[in-house]
Amino acid sequence: MTAIVVAGHICVDLTPQLGASAHSDSDRLLEPGRLIGVGALQIGLGGCVANTGLALADLGAEVSLHSTVGDDDLGRIVADTVNRMPRLHSDLQVTPDHATSYSLVLEPAGHDRTFWHHTGANTDFTGEHLDVGDAPLLHLGYPPLLPGLLADGGEPLERMLARARERGATTSLDLAVVDPSSEVGAVDWTTILRRAAAVTDILSPSLDDLTSALGATSGIPPLPAATAALAYADLLLGWGAAVVAISAGSDGLLMRTAGADRLERGGRLLAPLAARWADTSLRVRPFAVDRVETTNGAGDASTAGLLFALSRGASPTLAAHAATAAAAAVVSGRRPTPEVMSGMLPAGVHLFPATEAP
Ligand SMILES: Nc1ncnc2c1ncn2[C@@H]1O[C@H](COP(=O)(O)OP(=O)(O)OP(=O)(O)O)[C@@H](O)[C@H]1O
Ligand SMILES: [Mg+2]
Repeated sequence: MTAIVVAGHICVDLTPQLGASAHSDSDRLLEPGRLIGVGALQIGLGGCVANTGLALADLGAEVSLHSTVGDDDLGRIVADTVNRMPRLHSDLQVTPDHATSYSLVLEPAGHDRTFWHHTGANTDFTGEHLDVGDAPLLHLGYPPLLPGLLADGGEPLERMLARARERGATTSLDLAVVDPSSEVGAVDWTTILRRAAAVTDILSPSLDDLTSALGATSGIPPLPAATAALAYADLLLGWGAAVVAISAGSDGLLMRTAGADRLERGGRLLAPLAARWADTSLRVRPFAVDRVETTNGAGDASTAGLLFALSRGASPTLAAHAATAAAAAVVSGRRPTPEVMSGMLPAGVHLFPATEAP
């Protein structure tokens, strides 16, 4: 099986275990000369490439990860972690100019988390070193955290997606929330996303991603989530995307698709499904979970569920349910393995070899 390529933003998440007292004492956390006792350090991979790539591998896909890291210990942790995992292949670029990107995740027990994030080597990601070969699919995320893709009105972003398309791959793009106070908050997101959508087959942003990038210029006023998602989906389809899946947290997922003539030009994965996937509009509620462990990476898992289902030739309805099931797995603190997914999807679905009818 030729591997799916997942490219773009990667970082190392460094999470010291903090007690509840870290919150009540938060004013003194940076007090000079003070020693603050903390628990064990958890080291994991984060960012679109790790979150969506690992979830795709959990589901059963072969995945090649293409990102830029620094020539340092954290970069070697990224490579070792990826190489240890089944079905994951690393295609990492090493830059001499920046340190590996990391987030220090500060999460006092029972409180919301704060991130200290270093963009680092992600600054140098331009996609120009990527050779997709005959991959069925290129998934890329997240342009708001990859400044190297945004120069000249998003020219490198457009070029990267267009090159993958010329090789016959289906192209897929996910976004992240644009921080208005950051440098990328000032770029022209309408121009960038219009150009990107014209060479992207599948777009799977969250509603927050879209309102943060386009809310001020799209002419779409603040609306209830369901109505806003419809308006943004139509905007992105109008710009040339073939499949738009917008997640809206506990409001679930909206998926809309273009007509068959557009889907027929959707690359190796999508083109064969054009007739079944054309002119679809559906909304899926989130899977109920007993306890929300974390919503971090839920959107990335949702994208992985959608793309995996597509790679298995699933119907739009099954793909949307696979997206919400994979998100629910992560939200409830589990990995989206075939076993976990099969416990949520209706019996007899043909997504995983183990659940296929004899
Ligand atoms: N509180 C919740 N309860 C149940 N399901 C949720 C909840 N939050 C998210 N989900 C599920 O996760 C999916 C994706 O969530 P969301 O729209 O928040 O993505 P996101 O903001 O892109 O997440 P991230 O960027 O952290 O990966 C939703 O469509 C839904 O299925
Ligand atoms: Mg997201």
